Amino acid sequence: MNRLEHLEDDRAGAVKKTRRSFISWFSVGALAVCAGVMTLFNLIFLKPRVSQGAASKFRIGKPENYASGSVVEMKEAKVVVRRDGNRIAAISTICTHLGCTVNSTDVGFECPCHGSIYDLQGDVVAGPAPEPLAWYRVGLTPSGELEIDKQSVVDAGTYLEVEA
Ligand code: FES
Repeated sequence: MNRLEHLEDDRAGAVKKTRRSFISWFSVGALAVCAGVMTLFNLIFLKPRVSQGAASKFRIGKPENYASGSVVEMKEAKVVVRRDGNRIAAISTICTHLGCTVNSTDVGFECPCHGSIYDLQGDVVAGPAPEPLAWYRVGLTPSGELEIDKQSVVDAGTYLEVEA
């Protein structure tokens, strides 16, 4: 082997080494990127996706803000507040079928998702809803404000008596 051939072999070896080392580093880099992306997605997956939504206990103002016969729909809280004379009640607007928000009508409630119909008491008139709408406890705070507690489901027809 002459000197020129020896130099060409060295150059070819250097090129091979460079290519091999590039592929090696590229593979390590690609694996590191993949591991990083997988870790990121796992962390995103582990984070709870539950929306806290509206508070379960909240104030809705003084009784005198609700005229007798009024039906006030609170969309964010998913509740309808009804006042009959001196009585106030809170009825859930969450459909008992699959949880859509029902719309209040003159004769009760209608679910836009699958057509369930409830009467004014929240009882099912037409399915597929399996159960009546929930009624929530309504109380008075020491400052005289109405407070709805969505953690506390009461019997249908349970009203809070308020002063005229
Ligand atoms: S969610 Fe209301 S009828 Fe299906």
